[in-house]
Amino acid sequence: MGTQRIPAAQGVYNLQDYDKTRQTFDWQEAEKHFSWAETGQVNMAYEAIDRHAETFRKNKVALYYRDESRKETYTFEEMKELSNKAGNVLKTYGGVNKGDRVFIFMPRSPELYFSILGAIKLGAIVGPLFEAFMEGAVKDRLEDSEAKVLVTTPDLVHRVPVDELPALKAIFLVGENIEETGPFINFNKKMKEADKHLEIEWVDREDGLILHYTSGSTGRPKGVLHVHNAMIQHYQTARWVLDLQEDDIYWCTADPGWVTGTSYGIFGPWLTGTSNVITGGRFKPENWYQAIEDYGVTVWYSAPTAFRMLMGAGDELVEKYDLSSLRHILSVGEPLNPEVIRWGMKVFGKRIHDTWWMTETGAIVVANYPCMEIKPGSMGKAIPGVEVAIVDDRGNILPPNRMGNLAIKKGWPAMMREIWKNPQKYDSYFLPGGWYVSGDSAFMDEEGYVWFQGRIDDVIMTSGERVGPFEVESKLLEHPAVAEAGVIGKPDPVRGEIIKAFVALMEDYEPSEELKEDIRQFVKTGLAAHAAPREIEFRDKLPKTRSGKIMRRVLKSWELGLPAGDLSTMED
Ligand code: PRX
Repeated sequence: MGTQRIPAAQGVYNLQDYDKTRQTFDWQEAEKHFSWAETGQVNMAYEAIDRHAETFRKNKVALYYRDESRKETYTFEEMKELSNKAGNVLKTYGGVNKGDRVFIFMPRSPELYFSILGAIKLGAIVGPLFEAFMEGAVKDRLEDSEAKVLVTTPDLVHRVPVDELPALKAIFLVGENIEETGPFINFNKKMKEADKHLEIEWVDREDGLILHYTSGSTGRPKGVLHVHNAMIQHYQTARWVLDLQEDDIYWCTADPGWVTGTSYGIFGPWLTGTSNVITGGRFKPENWYQAIEDYGVTVWYSAPTAFRMLMGAGDELVEKYDLSSLRHILSVGEPLNPEVIRWGMKVFGKRIHDTWWMTETGAIVVANYPCMEIKPGSMGKAIPGVEVAIVDDRGNILPPNRMGNLAIKKGWPAMMREIWKNPQKYDSYFLPGGWYVSGDSAFMDEEGYVWFQGRIDDVIMTSGERVGPFEVESKLLEHPAVAEAGVIGKPDPVRGEIIKAFVALMEDYEPSEELKEDIRQFVKTGLAAHAAPREIEFRDKLPKTRSGKIMRRVLKSWELGLPAGDLSTMED
């Protein structure tokens, strides 16, 4: 532990002296970039796009977009006009007002970004949904948030149970040959006719911005609400951690259905006026390297599963591409194995910088900075201006090298402000002393480096995506053959974890491979492909507490062949 170190990178960085900045930095320094310093009001979309269109960045490329069928670029001026148009379309035909929830459910495309920005310009709260969600997952989220407007595509709209969503008033369809009946509106057609001028809704910094649904170990997915104030941390971490500078070409590989794809796929890069690459389509190592070469990507933010898949595709493949533009590489979402860092040094000649944060934190909280030594296996140090500690279950700070709860002192700028319609849940995250408890266990060494140890709860991280076992179990129980179900994360060398389900069958059903496949498909089509268990094991009975709760801890010990620990609460 901590013996191996990779020296600081050579170069001129936005953050040159971590220790000094940590001592002197004040968030007011970041605030002065934004309009509230002058007017007391603000709007994220204005700060990310329009502000630059009024400066020397007017004709700078804001968005490089490509997928299998499209390749387009948009300047900041064009992004301003197109997001204004989208705002006008949403307002005129969807009646969108400040505070309304506007959900966006579609694959990546320029229209997805125009819609998000347009909705934000109206003061609406945006809810991005990953395109892989199936009907059950879509319904849960639209229902809980009482979304008023949805932007989706003709391919996906059949997963939206329109009749069961009374709050949903308008559905914009992005695509060709759309019939405008009932609540359905042709988005592209209306965009062509729309005015490129829009009256921005100036909001308070504490007004709602974005609602990301995410999973915990119990209960349905919960809506994590972020507010416009988050921008100062998005901005500042984009400078310090992503190290974005004027001439950078930046590529974040995450989808905006997940928090990384908004905080650092939209807000961070555009708040700093950076040219942003966005690619659609599926992951393919060749396409990824080609994108870096074609666009001359300089700063690249991705995830351990992706790096491990690239690693698996072989070093010879890397050599076929000119990746010399890369100057800074970062990772988030799961533990970054030291082996991957070593591979990065070998094939890219660059360090991969781990970063830690979560949906609830809204922005990066712990990171490795170019100016700092990397200790492979460690996630780095707390960002200046935010206090991170390892605390026990009562909120007492633990000494160095002691494992405990990775916690953050309440009040960092991008902190979630609400769990949608669930104040008790929100309060349950905080310990005495104002510590937000992340659900991760970790320790901190004498130098302040944080070392991730695992999740304390049963949340599964598979291919960097966060899946709540409860949601999968609930879906499994809807299958006619399933009597009981318990779901765990099983360690996997590429995906971090895979989803494994233990299932007890109803009396009339016999275990078989066909039945496993049928159950898997049932979850896949009802919830989402990434939530479907890759492995299913049938058991006569599952371990339960006396109150009937499935003991996932025991399932995990079965799987790993480890002792199950305290079984005193287990039923006979
Ligand atoms: O367990 C931690 C893991 O991802 C969780 C948060 O997931 P989500 O809200 O989906 O956000 C992911 C990206 C912001 C955390 O509680 N996690 C995130 N970053 C790391 C990590 N685990 C290990 N190392 C990391 N760098």
